[in-house]
Amino acid sequence: MNEIIKFIKKTPKAELHVHIEGTLEPELMFRLAKRNNIKIPFENINDVKSAYNFSNLESFLNIFYQGSNVLIKEQDFFDLTWAYTLKCKEDNVVHTEIFFDPQTHINRGIHFEVVINGIYKALVKANKEFGLTSKIIMCFLRHLDEKSAFEILDQALVHKTKIVAVGLDSSEAGHPPRKFERVFKKAMEKGFLTVAHAGEEGPPEYIWEALNLLKVKRIDHGVQCLQNKKLVQKLLDDQIPLTICPLSNIKLCVFKKLKDHNLKKLLNNGLMVMVNSDDPAYFGGYINKNLIECQAALNLSKEDIKKLIINSFKSSFLKEDKKKEWIEKI
Ligand code: HPA
Ligand code: ZN
Repeated sequence: MNEIIKFIKKTPKAELHVHIEGTLEPELMFRLAKRNNIKIPFENINDVKSAYNFSNLESFLNIFYQGSNVLIKEQDFFDLTWAYTLKCKEDNVVHTEIFFDPQTHINRGIHFEVVINGIYKALVKANKEFGLTSKIIMCFLRHLDEKSAFEILDQALVHKTKIVAVGLDSSEAGHPPRKFERVFKKAMEKGFLTVAHAGEEGPPEYIWEALNLLKVKRIDHGVQCLQNKKLVQKLLDDQIPLTICPLSNIKLCVFKKLKDHNLKKLLNNGLMVMVNSDDPAYFGGYINKNLIECQAALNLSKEDIKKLIINSFKSSFLKEDKKKEWIEKI
């Protein structure tokens, strides 16, 4: 095996952008559909895989929300999360910060505590069994209204000890961050950290709004920032992390080919970027695959890879001493 691939595989990494519902592999989807007697619009696993051809974010989300319908009981959320933690172990991901979308489940009659407890218990088990550390981030669905976001925030407060931050995901076009300014203000007053998807497909203005109005600590994606020089300067000055998801961007046609991805440009500009998997069951790979394919397509050096991995810890919500400990090992 080539030396740089070995380095990617064996080095401890942090993941900062993964939707737990996006780790639902087709095999588990079928198993849960059967267990819960839920109809899914696929005959077999090949059928599922051929449906995973997306033209943009919206076309993906339609399929993604259908897949989530098989998640009903606490055990389902546990099994989903446990399966993801085993992928972390395989890829040497030692710390992960995962998103979940409670509104997707509440709106189907699944209770908040069913969702959060299933996820949380699997993460506790992974910590006990192989030392994986983790944080949970609750995302608001931006295609829904502010009222719905306030309601879900109230439910999250009951589980405050298990959730470190709030985020913003789902359809970006037509749903600017400013729509959630008041919700994020309340979340911060209650002690949550904040992040937001911005500049995945949407314009640089959405990144500005996430920074200035939602006061986010990280931008999820943010790949559209290079369109705006002043914005790049701001991201540089404040070393705002951008959680880049290369294979996701290709699958959702944000870039045509991995060779066209701006990851290397962002890195060369001195921006605080790292590589993540987003919805790995839908986009074709977990962290190592993302790193290995980027390395080949963009001709990343070992130093580039090292920088990306160090950035993953620097940008995490780990305590400073824990960050330092991991970075020293790289
Ligand atoms: N973007 C926005 N919302 C999402 C995504 C994404 O890539 N994945 C799951 N929800
Ligand atoms: Zn995402």
